Formats: sequence, C-alpha cells, structure tokens
Amino acid sequence: MSPAQPMNLVVFLARAGVGSRRSCDELIREGVVTVNDEVVTFPRHKVSHDDVVAVRGERVTVRELRYVLVNKPRGVASTRSDPHADKVIVDLVPGGRALFPVGRLDVDTTGLIILTNDGVLANRLMHPRYGVPKTYVARVRGKVSRRALGTLRQGVDLEDGRTAPADVRLRKQSAKTALVEITIHEGRKRQVRRMFQSVGLPVEELSRRRYGPLSDKGLEPGGYRELAGDEVEALRRAGEQVAGEVAKETEGSPVPLAAEAPEARRERLAEDERAGAPEMPAAPSAEPDAAAGESGAPDAGAGRSGEPDTAGDGSA
Ligand code: URA
Repeated sequence: MSPAQPMNLVVFLARAGVGSRRSCDELIREGVVTVNDEVVTFPRHKVSHDDVVAVRGERVTVRELRYVLVNKPRGVASTRSDPHADKVIVDLVPGGRALFPVGRLDVDTTGLIILTNDGVLANRLMHPRYGVPKTYVARVRGKVSRRALGTLRQGVDLEDGRTAPADVRLRKQSAKTALVEITIHEGRKRQVRRMFQSVGLPVEELSRRRYGPLSDKGLEPGGYRELAGDEVEALRRAGEQVAGEVAKETEGSPVPLAAEAPEARRERLAEDERAGAPEMPAAPSAEPDAAAGESGAPDAGAGRSGEPDTAGDGSA
C-alpha cells in the first residue's frame, strides 16, 4: 500500500516500523501518539501522508513500500549477507539492500522469493500459522512409487515433527530420475529435500515455481520484477485466507489443510498411474537428510526497522 492512501493510525505506525500492530495499538491507547500535535487514542483514526504523526514527540514516517519477486538462480544465497556465498539475493535487485527476503531457499535451490521492506506482510507470509502454499518441482533420483507419493501427501515423520498434508503430483518418470511437483503449507528448514529423502528419493534439483498466488511465469532465473498492487493484495489475502482456515481448525478437531475430495483423489491416483508410478513402494531410507543447508531462520529483527520479527519460517 502506498503511504499516499489514508490508513488506520495503528497500521501507519506498524508500517513506519514502530512495532507490531499490537504494540502500536497499546502505544496509541496509552496516549503517547499525536496526529498534527493532537493526542489520538483511537487506533483506527484515519491518517494520510500529509498528517504529522509523532510518538512521544518524535515524528515517524512511512516509507514507500516495495515488493519485488525474484527468481533466484542456483548458487545465490537468499540472505542479506553471507561471507561464504559468491552472491546474495538482495544484490540481484537495484536498491535491494534496503529489502528483506521473505523466508529462505537453499543456495542450490532455484525459484521464487519475495524481497520487501513491508515487515508486517513479510511476517505474515513467513509465519507457519498462515501456511501460505508454496509449490516446488523436484528432480529426484529413483523410481517414485505410489506408496511414496501417498506418504508424502499424508505427512512424513521428520526429526522436527510430522509434516502437514501436501499436494504431490508425479510429473514424469524417466529411467533414473523423476520430476515431482509438491505443494506444502509449511516452511521448515530444507523441508522438501528432507521429505523426499525420508521416502528414499534424494533430490537432485529443486525449484520453487509458485508462492501463494504468484508464479514464475515469464521470470527467468536471475530475473526480478516489482509486484503490481493487485498482486500484493492477493498475497495479503492468501495469508489471511489460510489464517482463517487454521483458526477454525485449532478451535475444533484438526482438518488437514490439504484435505482432498474423494473425486479429486481418484483423479490424482489415476494421474500417478498414467505418469508411471509403480504400485510397489521403493525402499524408504530411514535417514532424513540432516545436513544443514543454507536455510536458517530469517533475519530476526526488531519491529522498528520494519524487518520481519518472527523466526518461524526456515526454507520457505
Ligand atoms: N525445501 C528445501 O528443502 N529447500 C528449499 O530451498 C526450500 C524448501
């Protein structure tokens, strides 16, 4: 959202990097926030860019927000700085050093990553609670059995817990390798690689092709583009929509996020068969790939800078 549009005072403060929405709400109610020298204690008081907003007498301003979609090539670290990497993702975009990557991709993973200075949206997208879907295409070594596909779909036991239901499709089986598309709603460290490894299918190449409503269409590795306003809104809605589903789930009995209708399931199983997935399972390896990759917690930062302030999202 551009600062030119009127917005709630609490949103203005959060966007200015004063803190989380909750802490900004408290500041306003405490009576330490002024708009044009008048104390305002109503968090939803509307302000626009030409209002003078101050916290304890100190003026705060909202920066122009940027949202850039990057198709990360192999070998580039998805952090802001990395002494071991040849290149970091923020250097692929002019002015990128003022932006933060939303989540992480391993150095050897290619694909979509968002850079932004909107800490509020970044936190929402990265927070495991919001479960924004991320679609990857993996080239794996070996024959992909229907059992392996089923296990990946239902959830696999990793050392940091069972994975949530995923949408998994076998795209192509060749003599030695296969292409598998997987959509997950979590973002644990090296999650996709570990999931495949746990069913005996080591990942040789991995690429993130979709992130929530965004796809890599027309964006070559190394390319980037600014997101349009409607794309940013779609991202916001994606977070909110899934958050709603999760809230419902946690109130009652758990409903898998990726639960499938029986008809869709039948169709998908037929697709597995057409794609050549053998019925017999490939021998699963009990050893998940525990080797740490590049994907650590995101840059944890204080809300003041507007950078993300949760450390929930590992790889994705
Ligand atoms: N899962 C992985 O294993 N690696 C990534 O880079 C992203 C998701």
